[in-house]
Amino acid sequence: MTITIDEMAAFCKKKGFVYNNSEIYGGMAGFWDYGPMGVELKNNIKAAWWKKHVREREDISGIDGAIITHPEVWVASGHVASFIDLMLECTKCSEKMRADHLIEDALKIPADGMKAAEINVLVAKHKLVCPKCKSPFKEVHDFNLMFQTHVGPTEDKAATAYLRPETAQLMFTNFKLVAENARLKLPFGIAQIGRAFRNEISPRNFLFRCREFEQMEIEYFIHPDKASDCPYLGDVEGYEMLVYSAAMQAKEEEPKQMKVEDALKKGIIKTPWHAYWLATEHKWFVDLGVKPEHLRIRQHLDTEKSHYALDTWDLEYKFPFAWKEILGMANRTDFDLQQHIKHSGKDLSLFDEESKKKIVPHVVAEPSFGVDRAFLVFMFDAYSYDKERDNVVLKLHPKLAPVQVGVFPLIKKEPLIELSRSLFQDLKKNFTIFYDASGSIGRRYARQDEAGTPFCVTVDFDSLEDKSVTVRMRDTTEQKRVKIEGLSEFLEHAIEQYK
Ligand code: GAP
Repeated sequence: MTITIDEMAAFCKKKGFVYNNSEIYGGMAGFWDYGPMGVELKNNIKAAWWKKHVREREDISGIDGAIITHPEVWVASGHVASFIDLMLECTKCSEKMRADHLIEDALKIPADGMKAAEINVLVAKHKLVCPKCKSPFKEVHDFNLMFQTHVGPTEDKAATAYLRPETAQLMFTNFKLVAENARLKLPFGIAQIGRAFRNEISPRNFLFRCREFEQMEIEYFIHPDKASDCPYLGDVEGYEMLVYSAAMQAKEEEPKQMKVEDALKKGIIKTPWHAYWLATEHKWFVDLGVKPEHLRIRQHLDTEKSHYALDTWDLEYKFPFAWKEILGMANRTDFDLQQHIKHSGKDLSLFDEESKKKIVPHVVAEPSFGVDRAFLVFMFDAYSYDKERDNVVLKLHPKLAPVQVGVFPLIKKEPLIELSRSLFQDLKKNFTIFYDASGSIGRRYARQDEAGTPFCVTVDFDSLEDKSVTVRMRDTTEQKRVKIEGLSEFLEHAIEQYK
C-alpha cells in the first residue's frame, strides 16, 4: 500500500520517528526533529554508509569539518554568486514561492534550471497568479539560499559568514592535508557526514526539502589524464539499473533497464568512474532493502547542471509525489581545486611520480547523499499494511531497524521477568533491544511490527525447562523455538541473511 507524504509525516510523528520542530510554538517550516526511533534509524543509516564508504575501503578517508567556515570559501566555490533560486513574490499578499515549482505545479512542465526571462514570459502568457490570494506577481528575482550569520561580537557586514550549504567544500579546503596525513595516492576519495543549511524559498514534502538537513558526501579525486581508468569497474559488471539519459528525456522516451557495461559502451554514461559510482550507490540502497524497481538514474539536462558540473546524474526514488532525487553525482572536474588555488593563493596540486610534474586532480564523481532523503526512502520502501494483521508492518532492513530485537516475558510474572531481563542484558551487547512486558503478546508484536523491529523473543514457562525461547519474525510472523545458548548466533545469522 502506498501512502502519501503527509500520511508518512503523521506516521513518523505517531511512532516517534520525526516531529515538527518547536511544535509547541507553532513549528518552523523546513526544520524537523528526530524522535527516539528516528534518531536510531538515522544513526544506523549514517553508520551503514560510513562503514561501506570509509571503513571498508582503502582509498577513502573521512573528515568532519566545521559548519561555519571562512566566507571566502563560498566566494571561491561560486555559491555567493550562483547559489540562487528564482523567486516569485505576490504584489498583494507578499507570498513568496520558488518560480520553477510554481511553473511545474501550474503548467505541469519541467522547470528546473529555467531562466528568469522564460519564467516571466510563461507567467504573463498563462496569466499565472498567486495561489493564495489570486493577485499578480512581481517580476521574478534571484534569491541566494545561503543562511548568513556574524562571527564575533559584531554585526558588521565585514563579519558576515555563512552556514555551509553543502559539506563538499571542506573536502576541497582540507584536500592537501588529508592526502598527506592519510598517505592517499590517486585515485582516492574524501568523505564527510554533516549538517548543511539552505534557506529554501518553499520547503515542502516533509523531510524531502528542508532548511536544515544532513549530507553524506564523497569527493572522489582522479589523475586528470586517467578518467577512463577505473580499477573497480569489475565490481559492478553485470549490475542493472533503470537508466534515463538526457537524450531519452529530450526524445520523451521511457527509461531503459541496462547493464552498467552496456550504458558505457553506448556512451550513455561517459566515464567508467561515473558508471562505477552510480552502480555502487544504487546497490547500497538495494542491499539495504530498497526495491530496485523504485530506483532509477537520471542524467541532468544541460539547463539543470550546476555551475561547476561537466556531467551530472541523480539517483532518483519513486516517491508517492513523483520520481525525485535522493543523491546527486556531478563530475566537478578540477573546478573547485582550481578556484581554491586562485582565491587562497595556496598550492593544492599533487606531485605525479610518473610524469614528474605537478597535477591538479579532477573530481570525476561526487556521490552526494541527503541523509534525510535516504531516511524517507527507507521508510517508504519499508512501509506496508498487512490486512490479516490489520496493522502497519514496517519492513526495515534489520541492519537499519531502530530496534532489532524485542524481548518479552509471556506474562508479567516471575520467574519469566527475571529470565527476560537477563536475556535483555545479554543481547544488548550485540543488538539494539526493547524490553516490553505490558499488554497482550499480540499487542506487543503489533507495536514492534509498526516500529520495524524484525525479531521478537518471547520467554514462556517452557523456557524455564527447555532453556529455549520463541523467536517471531516480523515479515512472515513465522515462529521458531531457539536454544537460549545459541540465540545471539541465530539472530546474527538472520540479520546477515536478511533479504
Ligand atoms: N555537493 C553537491 C550537492 O550538495 P545537491 O544536489 O545540491 O548537491 C545533494 O545536494 C543532496 O543533498 C541531494 O541529492 C539531496 O539528497 C540533499 N539535499 C539537497 N537539498 C536538500 C534539502 N533542501 N532538504 C533535504 N535534502 C537536501
